[in-house]
Amino acid sequence: MNAPQNTGNENIPAHVAIIMDGNGRWATARGLSRTEGHRKGAEAARHVVEAAGELGIRYLTLFAFSSENWNRPADEVNDLMNLLRYYLKKETAELHKNGARIKVIGDRSALPIDIVKLIENAENLTRDNAKITVVLALNYGGRQDIIFAAKELARQVRADETDLATVNENSFSRYMMTGDIPDPDLMIRTSGESRISNFLLWQMAYAELYFTDTLWPDFSKKDLKDAVAHFSGRDRRFGGLSQSHEIQG
Ligand code: IPE
Ligand code: IPE
Ligand code: MG
Repeated sequence: MNAPQNTGNENIPAHVAIIMDGNGRWATARGLSRTEGHRKGAEAARHVVEAAGELGIRYLTLFAFSSENWNRPADEVNDLMNLLRYYLKKETAELHKNGARIKVIGDRSALPIDIVKLIENAENLTRDNAKITVVLALNYGGRQDIIFAAKELARQVRADETDLATVNENSFSRYMMTGDIPDPDLMIRTSGESRISNFLLWQMAYAELYFTDTLWPDFSKKDLKDAVAHFSGRDRRFGGLSQSHEIQG
């Protein structure tokens, strides 16, 4: 295991979130089935996880299946579930060996029970790993995340476990499915679409957004490095003034 390169001095984003889009178009352009595109997309994800570790990124969130993706034809949903099964079985040990903690966000109650078991197994096996946290968003929707959080807060207030007057942005964040991880610094979407598609709505308030025309199956380690380099040059003001302005006084 290599030591993380992120010493806090370089401008490496701590958390990168990716909307892995364009598998279908990649396949169609080659006369292949959409499923072939998803298979190739899963390989790209493996390389990007490796690259993220090498760059010293501490959290990598991958949008693999949205709460709206059930609207696709049953055959495609079924193939996606099979791929997920296959990769959870195949990749968990490898990720564990490389010091990755696996965490799944999304409503897992609607996923096939054997996949839920594979997820629990992966999370339990890797829970103490600290090199990188790989967050898989499965049956995830940003609005659903906010509603689940609001419901849990309401339940606690009703049970007198939480005082409503003390609730603020920080405490509310902890009810989100990403409660124990920092907000994304950089959000990448491939395939030329510039929309968020109900991804981490609450968490992306101040993320830098990076859109590239590259289709996800073609997204390489170098593409991740390019996105990170782009991020490093950004001036994140968080509503204030830029650092250079402050230094100049
Ligand atoms: C992203 O690729 C993968 C999932 C949403 C599961 P798409 O399947 O959306 O590919 P396009 O957008 O149709 O090309
Ligand atoms: C977003 O891509 C979801 C994932 C990448 C898992 P979609 O392809 O589902 O999004 P839309 O339909 O183009 O907004
Ligand atoms: Mg798409």
